Amino acid sequence: MKKFFSVADVDDLSILVKDALALKASPYALRDLGKNKTLGLVFLNPSLRTRLSTQKAAMNLGMDVMVINMDKDGWALETQDGVVMNGTTVEHIREAAAVMGEYCDILGLRSFPSLKDKEADYTEDLFNKFVKFCAVPVVSLESATRHPLQSLTDLITISEHKNVEKPKVVLAWAPHVKALPQAVPNSFSEWMCKAQEQGLVDFTIAHPMGYELSEEFTKGAKISDNLEESLQEADFVYVKNWSSFAEYGEVYPVAQNWMMDNEKLKLTNNAKVMHCLPVRRDLELSSEILDGPNSLVIKEASNRVWAAQVVLKRMLEKLK
Ligand code: CP
Repeated sequence: MKKFFSVADVDDLSILVKDALALKASPYALRDLGKNKTLGLVFLNPSLRTRLSTQKAAMNLGMDVMVINMDKDGWALETQDGVVMNGTTVEHIREAAAVMGEYCDILGLRSFPSLKDKEADYTEDLFNKFVKFCAVPVVSLESATRHPLQSLTDLITISEHKNVEKPKVVLAWAPHVKALPQAVPNSFSEWMCKAQEQGLVDFTIAHPMGYELSEEFTKGAKISDNLEESLQEADFVYVKNWSSFAEYGEVYPVAQNWMMDNEKLKLTNNAKVMHCLPVRRDLELSSEILDGPNSLVIKEASNRVWAAQVVLKRMLEKLK
């Protein structure tokens, strides 16, 4: 694996999940694989889970890890060509990415979208330039439009906790006070659509009108603006807020209460409730669910290690 950016970088989801669960059973079995190899993690935005779980995964494989918070500790990056750099940007991505590639065997990059310029965000300009100029394998730590390590984690978690062969999985929009990216729901949707194609899940998306995701990510999903109807017989409910794709980055008022709580849980097949975290309690998801027996959020976050570890393992195997 040279790049981990989207579900298209994976052939068979079941095999990847099986390999991840084998690493979970024996975390330190491959400590020699990453010996004398360095992982560089580059953050342009905050992170708790992605940062720590990816470091932990790399250490389990015997790698050395370096982390840079580019937004705080690095030089201000210029990403456009043909620009006379007489403004606030100090270093061009051409040099910055190339230099980081000299120090590291594998790089990870986190960069959120602007939520202002849809075209720049959805062409993944920054991520693609980073890949082009660094010359080593790159793992996305969440980009403008996708969060593949989170989605792989979510598939691992569903596989571990399912009680039926093909569970019903519902991605349920939730309220928020800020405009959030579409990266997590886009990514979850494209992974679940592929999982549905491979016979692993039955997938529904529920959101209020105006919050349609880009069709690029939702092919094959059932889509509804009726949350209560969508929750019927659900085995897993994946709660997440996102801002509008059509009216890019906009937040519309929603009259109905879309927060997942115990009343809504009664409509489901005693569903397990997931969220990528961080979560705003009693705004996106009720405390009674988060603190109750149906919540998978901590187990889900814990599985971030095995998602990162299986991806790094595959990249290290290609370096040999
Ligand atoms: N879910 C997730 O990516 O968490 P962080 O933003 O804390 O890394």
